[in-house]
Amino acid sequence: MIIHRKEELIRLEQSLQGCGKCPLGPTRTNLVFGRGSETGKIMLIGEGPGEQEDLQGVPFVGKAGQLLDKILAAAELLEEECYICNIVKCRPPQNRVPAPEEVEACLPYLRLQFGAIRPWIVVLLGASAAKAIIDPKLAITKARGKWVKKGDYLFMPTFHPAALLRDPGKKAPVWQDFQEIKRVYEEMKATKGETE
Ligand code: URA
Repeated sequence: MIIHRKEELIRLEQSLQGCGKCPLGPTRTNLVFGRGSETGKIMLIGEGPGEQEDLQGVPFVGKAGQLLDKILAAAELLEEECYICNIVKCRPPQNRVPAPEEVEACLPYLRLQFGAIRPWIVVLLGASAAKAIIDPKLAITKARGKWVKKGDYLFMPTFHPAALLRDPGKKAPVWQDFQEIKRVYEEMKATKGETE
């Protein structure tokens, strides 16, 4: 089962390498697919790759990513419990917000990632991820910290780590959100066991 998931993700990543469905394809250095554990029950979704991610082909490896790793470690969420990716897999030039057509073009790939990983909890990092998945009219300041159940998945919107670097006042609410994520995750582990 675990090998099956890994293979599914590897195959999907390979199949995307030639993707030119939107204008971000031709300007990317690397497609940025995902990192972490394919058996992770917590999936974290950001907006799109930045400069470092584009150069390395790995999501959340720049300053925002380093902060995200610190938050996960502080919340005692282990690397093998998490899978990290983005709404769009190619870097928007000058780190602009991805256009709705770019998000639309890339969402089917995210759905396939969902299908392979089948997370229990999905953390939406920032407004772009929360709007793409929950509601295009959502305001992240109001939506953060509140669970949204959709289909089989439980979503938690929170601020993007890059927003914390710009505004340290957002650190406390994000910390609160991650403590809530940890609490619910531990409850789910106790009720569902390690089998699902
Ligand atoms: N910001 C994101 O939203 N994603 C990354 O991978 C890096 C920075």
